[in-house]
Amino acid sequence: MFRERHRKNDFISPVFVHKLEKHDEIKSQVLALIKNDDGRISQTTDGKGTDIAKTDFYKTNSEVSEYKEYVTPFLVEHIQKIWYENKIFPNCLFSMGNMWYQQYKNNNFHTWHTHEKSHFTNVYFVQLPDNGTKFNPFGTQVLNLKGERIYFDEMEEGFIMTFPGYLLHRSPVNTTNQTKTIISWNMQIIEKSASISEGRFKKENKVIEAGQENKG
Ligand SMILES: [Fe+2]
Repeated sequence: MFRERHRKNDFISPVFVHKLEKHDEIKSQVLALIKNDDGRISQTTDGKGTDIAKTDFYKTNSEVSEYKEYVTPFLVEHIQKIWYENKIFPNCLFSMGNMWYQQYKNNNFHTWHTHEKSHFTNVYFVQLPDNGTKFNPFGTQVLNLKGERIYFDEMEEGFIMTFPGYLLHRSPVNTTNQTKTIISWNMQIIEKSASISEGRFKKENKVIEAGQENKG
């Protein structure tokens, strides 16, 4: 019996890629606020993990950041829209977890990694180097469960990619002289009644109902 069931597994993981509708409207303000933020370089000592020109990843999540206050409503609206339009996660809520930005200049990169304790992670491509072709190799590269490449050169500026935190992904070496800027955030999926009755997410103050029309 086990074998029969095992054979039916398809090992497919959900990955969503959609353009943030208001990207063109908000891009310059997001970049200006990140420019004003007191982020810092992130380099691992072995030289193989990360080499990132500027990030606020090391800050605690409770620190107020102007860019987060500005961009979060647009990101929440985006996720609500994707859920509603695709009729996914019925009777579930989501919570916005850690958020951070990363800026990659020439030769910067972030090697293969997963996100611990994160149902989904998201990457918003605020600014991508322009290589003059339709397909852009400087987005986040993602592997499936078998280590096969599923997203490698298909990103466009303004896209938001949402995928399970267990999938290996990386930011490839930026071989251009143009800056790549992303905002990433983790997200937990919560069954509506469980979150209320068990108080599991009391500490989370940003539990979001995805699509009012999905109620009931
Ligand atoms: Fe990541």
